[in-house]
Amino acid sequence: DKTRVVVIGSLNMDIVVETERYPQVGETLSGERVRFLPGGKGANQAVAAARLGAETAMIGAVGSDAFGEELIHSLQQDGVDVDGVKRLDGVTTGVASIYVAEGDNSIVVVPGANNQVEPADIDRHEAKLKQADIVLLQLEIPVETVFYAAQKAKALGKIVVLNPAPAKPLPDELFAYVDYITPNRTELSRYSGLDAEGEALEPAMLRMKAKGAAQVITTLGEAGSAYLDDEGKACIIPGYKVPVVDTTGAGDCYNAGLAVSIASGRSLREAVDYAAIVSALAVTKFGAQTGMPTEEEARGFAAEHQQIGE
Ligand code: RIB
Ligand code: NA
Repeated sequence: DKTRVVVIGSLNMDIVVETERYPQVGETLSGERVRFLPGGKGANQAVAAARLGAETAMIGAVGSDAFGEELIHSLQQDGVDVDGVKRLDGVTTGVASIYVAEGDNSIVVVPGANNQVEPADIDRHEAKLKQADIVLLQLEIPVETVFYAAQKAKALGKIVVLNPAPAKPLPDELFAYVDYITPNRTELSRYSGLDAEGEALEPAMLRMKAKGAAQVITTLGEAGSAYLDDEGKACIIPGYKVPVVDTTGAGDCYNAGLAVSIASGRSLREAVDYAAIVSALAVTKFGAQTGMPTEEEARGFAAEHQQIGE
């Protein structure tokens, strides 16, 4: 029986502009290359989950424009159920305008239709939630909707994973409905009020647990990720040494890998291991959705690669 994942979240067209350096204020530069790539944290997680073998459904919104069509089409090509993605008139499809320069990137996201994913959409697609093993949430749609979805999923007895990205103010009551929360270090600092980027990684994770999140996992970039064990100790699972091509969407891939693995009955430790493998594969390819690995690629990878620090 296939694992069933429902992703509730954003769809963006990533407009990736490669330029030698960032423009200064008021300056016009000539860039090297532009690419239009399907993205958005929600859609990225949906594509990754589907490629990793889960039966995946997406709930979200796009505008009635060409980008919206393309984003829906791209999900369909990966076998994602898009019945829950509504098309809205009079609003633009979400866009992430990404400058890649000097080995770094900077992003401006215009949410557009993503801002109109409402609690009513969750009710409308209750049947999908009922069928799911696990529900995957991020923060590129209104927090009110995320909160509602978490409550509803919990009431239906589902596992709830919240990737609290990008960081936004959250009501403390939300955490009680979250089984797995997966901030990066910056987000963890924001939510815990502690310096998780420095010494306070473990105390910050414990604080998230005290707020009500059952399990806390922190992604650490190339250093890997950390989870809290039963004794409340932060255990660091190193990442893999891979040639880095593009890290866009690596966090999304991590979350999808974690969710698929947990939903199929693996332990937290095993799920974190799997997430490390699939997100390492994701950074070796260009683009967010285009770079998501398949189940086959994930299999065998661990045998051939060395974990950093081992
Ligand atoms: O997590 C990566 C995603 O964040 C990109 O695809 C872009 O759409 C931004 O929203
Ligand atoms: Na990538």
